[in-house]
Amino acid sequence: MTRRIEIVPSVLPADFSNLGEECRRLGDAGVDRIQWDVMDGNFVPNLTFGPDVIAACRRHTDVRFEAHLMVADPDLMAKQYIDAGCDLLIVHAESTIHLHRTLANIIELGGNAAVALNPSTPIDELKNILDLVEMVLIMTVNPGFGGQKYIATMEPKITATRAMLDASGYDIDLEVDGGIGKDTIAGAAAAGANVLISGSGLFKYPTLAEGVADLRARAEAAQ
Ligand code: DX5
Repeated sequence: MTRRIEIVPSVLPADFSNLGEECRRLGDAGVDRIQWDVMDGNFVPNLTFGPDVIAACRRHTDVRFEAHLMVADPDLMAKQYIDAGCDLLIVHAESTIHLHRTLANIIELGGNAAVALNPSTPIDELKNILDLVEMVLIMTVNPGFGGQKYIATMEPKITATRAMLDASGYDIDLEVDGGIGKDTIAGAAAAGANVLISGSGLFKYPTLAEGVADLRARAEAAQ
């Protein structure tokens, strides 16, 4: 089954002094949802968005918000990010000892859950939690910053993950994040990703609408 391609911007390259308007622009450009890269300066050497910043942007677009929690303690503020308007929380398997409980708690709080794996983390980490997630994120950079180089050696891992998800019997999307742009999106989609995060790659286009359309066309052609 060919899964629907979703083009999802990272907000990292956006104008931080005008985030509400940037979210509106992204929605108008035809993105499928918006990803907030939440960084705590601990799990990754960078610090970004608190829940109040996201909540302030919520009213500027109807597009779904997802929070990519690059934080050392995903349980600590999960509720605040859900209350801020992110109905999908992406938890790094590396950030919690009790991944099953963390994901189950997000669902208990009324959110939807997803799990992210850093480049060096094996996909076996996914084995016992697939019933709890709507999506798996395979990182194609080491997290912390936008504008990094796509790690093409992750493509066999993407393919193996897609095979695992298909064999599970659960309806689970496969997202990739990091270095996705016009020259790399086809490889990621061909490998099995159907949700594609693009920050710097998207914002490089003359207009956001042109970028969303071109990235979507390139990914769909590669499936
Ligand atoms: C890394 C971030 C970035 C961001 C996308 O921690 O998660 O991957 O979302 O950045 P680009 O698309 O600029 O690589």
